Amino acid sequence: MATPPLLISVLAALAALVWLRARKKNPIPTIAEADGVLASYRTALCFWGNAADVVRRGCRQFPEGVFRVPTLFRWEYVANGPQLLLEIVAAPESVLSFHEGAADNLQTEHTIGAAVMHNPYHVGAVRGSLTRNLARCFPEVRDEIVHAFDDVLALEGKEWKTMTVLPQLMQIVARTSNRLFVGLPLCRDQEFLDLNVNYTVHIFTRGQLIKLIPEFLKPTLAPFLSSKNSSLRHALKFLGALLEERLQKDQELGADYPDRPNDVISWLLDLATDEERTGPALALRILTINMAAIHTSSTTLTSALYDLTTYPEHIQPMREEAERVVAAEGWTKAALAGMHKIDSFLRESQRLSASGPLALTRRVVAKTGFTFSDGTTIPHGAYLTVPANAIHSNPDTYANPAVFDGFRSSRLRKEGAAAADPDDPTATAFFNRHMVSTAPDHVAFGHGRHACPGRFFAATELKAMLAHILINYDVEAEVDGVRPPDTIIGVMRMPSAKGKIMIRKRV
Ligand code: HEM
Ligand SMILES: *[C@@H]1O[C@H](CO)[C@@H](O)[C@H](O)[C@H]1NC(C)=O
Ligand SMILES: *[C@@H]1O[C@H](CO)[C@@H](O)[C@H](O)[C@H]1NC(C)=O
Repeated sequence: MATPPLLISVLAALAALVWLRARKKNPIPTIAEADGVLASYRTALCFWGNAADVVRRGCRQFPEGVFRVPTLFRWEYVANGPQLLLEIVAAPESVLSFHEGAADNLQTEHTIGAAVMHNPYHVGAVRGSLTRNLARCFPEVRDEIVHAFDDVLALEGKEWKTMTVLPQLMQIVARTSNRLFVGLPLCRDQEFLDLNVNYTVHIFTRGQLIKLIPEFLKPTLAPFLSSKNSSLRHALKFLGALLEERLQKDQELGADYPDRPNDVISWLLDLATDEERTGPALALRILTINMAAIHTSSTTLTSALYDLTTYPEHIQPMREEAERVVAAEGWTKAALAGMHKIDSFLRESQRLSASGPLALTRRVVAKTGFTFSDGTTIPHGAYLTVPANAIHSNPDTYANPAVFDGFRSSRLRKEGAAAADPDDPTATAFFNRHMVSTAPDHVAFGHGRHACPGRFFAATELKAMLAHILINYDVEAEVDGVRPPDTIIGVMRMPSAKGKIMIRKRV
């Protein structure tokens, strides 16, 4: 019988691991729920349920330092305070790796594939061409917003209807974003949109399952869980011929033939080299960009609608602003810059709901570890994060941080502009609280080197959508004063997927 010895050795190995984990010397203090050999495991289990509280406790104890919290899979090293955050986001990829952090969080190697992670050239296409073309492409984005809201909400007359916010916005956001990514008619193909939405959801859900598999078994087992290959095959049904045609045209006519479409396919082709210049490789980038864009943008707008209906005193001032700006300038990207209150409202909603307890995961990849300017060293291989929720509710930077104050940023900007001494270079800080401005005290889009390259598009799209809602619809809470509760699982935070609001046409 081989089983008992095997079982005994597995148990012995586990016991040794537990003991080692408890005994291993590490100068970074821990936040633990309990004492004793199993303390870190008990804390890890508690952490699953109340990560925000555990992290907040750590932040109070170490206002300018690093502490550790155990999770089921690894230790999280949490760096608190703006100085340490700035040092993290300034570190090069060869020291603190964003991609290795994502590799563990989302199991990207298996869910998205090594090619995308090791050659993330699509990030340059999003940050560069996509952002530069936003004003030029805005008329199409606006057109798609109008049609998408009409079709997805399907409102008749002036009847109030119940809207299940997240799934409906997911559809609207997927469709509008793909108008810019791949254009008509594909952006209205329900099956194409569904496959992108499904792939996005799979990366998060199946990534967590893959994480449970021991490392040495992953190469064999992960492919059965990952939907990368099947999603890609499915996507090629829609994109295959189109991408081949675009590759061939670029090959024959060069990259500036007349009427070359202004879309993500062209912007990717501008940067793709060698093995990336194939239909399947390009299709995988389009899936990846969809993955980065859809879930983030639709959850952000969902939170904003929950906030709008929970704090309805914001509706009238923003509606007036949107109507005034559109009457004066029409629907253009430049006009959106005049919607200060709407911009501020979205930023405030992100401050309170966009981030979970921990964000900006980086893995220490430098062999010698990573040393902060205060001398604290984080060992090679460790995962380093910042306490996003705690940063966003720090009373030193936000007056009454728990209060939803939609016009917090627009008011501060206005006061700052009025009070600013034109010769004081630090005064410009007051002009920076736009939705797209990242800062050590606002990390919804990250900060520094890897700050979200899609945030200029996200802000354009979401401001245009919120303005469209305010002008064309009345919205109300399903139950007055009750905001559908966020879902918090471990360090992930999401607005309620089932939450509802009431909506009707205004005109
Ligand atoms: C409201 C919507 C969005 C939010 C809240 C958001 C948030 C973020 C955050 C927090 C990061 C990581 C920052 C870090 O760890 O330092 C990130 C990265 C990224 N985002 Fe976004 N994002 C949004 C929309 C978009 C859109 C619309 C696109 C594409 C068009 C996009 C593309 C990306 C890409 C490609 C990265 C990886 C950057 C890199 O590798 O350096 N995001 N985003
Ligand atoms: C997406 O997922 C839903 C729910 O699992 C499923 O019913 C649908 O067929 C999927 N669609 C595509 C195109 O993958
Ligand atoms: C997915 O596709 C890659 C590349 O074509 C291949 O190497 C891998 O074996 C495939 N995985 C599965 C599970 O089919």
